[in-house]
Amino acid sequence: MSDDCGHARIHARVRDSPRLGPWVIWKLSHGKERRGRMASAPDRSVLVTGASSGIGYTVAQGLRARGYHVIASARKQEDVQRLSVEGFTAVQLDLANSASIRAAVEATLAHTGGRVYGLFNNGGFGQLGALEDITREALRAQFEVNVFGAHELTRLILPVMRAQGQGRIIQNSSLLGLVALKYRGAYNASKFALEALSDTLRQELRGTGIRVVLIEPGPITSRFRENAYRTFERTVLCENPDTANRGRIERWLNDQGSAGWFTLPAEAVLAKVIKALEHDNPSPRYFVTTLTYAFAFLKRALPDRALDALMARIQA
Ligand SMILES: NC(=O)c1ccc[n+]([C@@H]2O[C@H](COP(=O)([O-])OP(=O)(O)OC[C@H]3O[C@@H](n4cnc5c(N)ncnc54)[C@H](OP(=O)(O)O)[C@@H]3O)[C@@H](O)[C@H]2O)c1
Repeated sequence: MSDDCGHARIHARVRDSPRLGPWVIWKLSHGKERRGRMASAPDRSVLVTGASSGIGYTVAQGLRARGYHVIASARKQEDVQRLSVEGFTAVQLDLANSASIRAAVEATLAHTGGRVYGLFNNGGFGQLGALEDITREALRAQFEVNVFGAHELTRLILPVMRAQGQGRIIQNSSLLGLVALKYRGAYNASKFALEALSDTLRQELRGTGIRVVLIEPGPITSRFRENAYRTFERTVLCENPDTANRGRIERWLNDQGSAGWFTLPAEAVLAKVIKALEHDNPSPRYFVTTLTYAFAFLKRALPDRALDALMARIQA
């Protein structure tokens, strides 16, 4: 079945939902923008991607404790089972796979009666490596998950939010979506792209009641680094074990240096996600960690050459 067919089927489910007759859909989609009005309690469904670990898992737990109906999605079936055992509504969702994304949206709508108040686009990974070692395939794989998957999922959820006349698209970007660091070029590029898509979407959705919010974490305690190193081994070291940059990347992995002082637990991200969901007029960007505030400021304040010199000292 083509992508279009899958898309149409999902939207048919929204249209045919017993809770949303055609008149209600028309009213909701043509009504005045109700800026940031919270959905009533039973409608507070939030779909979280990458809920198997780290930030996604913490956010899923925190939102559930706050009374949200969390649809916790995970890439691997064993994590879906674990999340179900923990009492979550859990669905399988691999951002690199369009069929999986469509199936996850259908399953989500079946669980929520066709309504989704929030989407937390969190699932992602980091492709480490100097750009000269990053193949086209590795760069594509990075974008497939961090950018294309999030975009495809967002497109499928948007008609649901439009029909509701409200919703929150929350994008887990990064400090590295604001400033570039060497040996993280592929990841940087994916998060810069997510920033651009989000800034555009925010303008396109103005007046619809759907808000687009970027979360900008700096270093957060999670399995992100070890997962990134495993990807680096698979995609770079397998082909080029003697790359001159291997030592530098391994040093970075083992020694967090000053970044370690600023590392926060994933609850710091949860706090900003709650603001993004609940604030009447959420900010387009929420910074998490001192490093994000500092580098966002420096990026604006310093000329490029001065910022490069600073980065070179920090990452010597
Ligand atoms: N930790 C940080 O310092 C930091 C800083 C800024 C931004 N972030 C962002 O925060 C998000 C979560 O990362 P984390 O720190 O919580 O790291 P993590 O513990 O490694 O979690 C990453 C999550 O993304 C999932 N994921 C990876 N590939 C996926 C795919 N193809 N489809 C669906 N899900 C996939 C992982 O699932 P599996 O368990 O199946 O791999 C896991 O649930 C990422 O977008 C990351 O870029 C993290």
